[in-house]
Amino acid sequence: MTGSTGMHIDVLTLFPAYFTGLLDVSLLGRAVDSGLLRVDIHDLRTWTTDPHRTADDMPYGGGAGMVLKPEPFFAAVEALYGAVESRPRTVVLTPRGDLLDQARVRDLATSERLLLLCGRYEGIDERVHEALATDEISIGDYVLAGGEAAAAVVIEAVTRLLPGVMGNDRSAMDESHADGLLEYPQYTRPASYRGMDVPAILRSGDHGRVAAWRTRQSVERTRRVRPDLYARWERASGGSAAPRLPEDGDEGSDDAAD
Ligand code: ADE
Repeated sequence: MTGSTGMHIDVLTLFPAYFTGLLDVSLLGRAVDSGLLRVDIHDLRTWTTDPHRTADDMPYGGGAGMVLKPEPFFAAVEALYGAVESRPRTVVLTPRGDLLDQARVRDLATSERLLLLCGRYEGIDERVHEALATDEISIGDYVLAGGEAAAAVVIEAVTRLLPGVMGNDRSAMDESHADGLLEYPQYTRPASYRGMDVPAILRSGDHGRVAAWRTRQSVERTRRVRPDLYARWERASGGSAAPRLPEDGDEGSDDAAD
């Protein structure tokens, strides 16, 4: 059961077993248990019509590998939603799709219902892309054996943003990518471990200086590790939103650990 703030996701796959366990543990398990998330995994072969339950065929024009046939996808959509036109937002997971980022995750999380289509082999018949997909999403510039791992990524990233799912809603706001920057370093006890000390400023109790330190760490880490994100962040803020950051050494001279 989904509540008014919940999400219902259908997944079409040749390998339903891929999702075994995924929906039982941790954040996804809790979201399902609390009724905030419902995920139905559907075996694409349910909608094949021959005795061998054939879901793929040779590509027109020749070439290596097999292509997933269109009929099971269309039949599944009609069985699940009544008509192709009644389908919800429909995401095809494919290496040729738009690169998934947190903005797209936020956008997907506003849908009450999603349909995820997982490809395999050389891909899915183009008519499925044309007639059924509202979104084509890649999770990175590498090729997986199929869309299942990508579907799992989408489900987890979206579920974290559903209202009520994260115990502490602030942690979804503070993390990497939430504001276009990578997250600052995090520490917990002990203050000193194997000669490595927690920066003293984090134990200073001075919330203003802690916030400034974290911002500077985020900005510097993003500039170093992800210049592409850094450039976008700089453009978006027009330079003006960049906080006045303490200079190097401002927070570092105190002894790190007690
Ligand atoms: N299927 C195969 N590779 C993929 C990728 N990188 N992203 C999404 N779906 C895929």
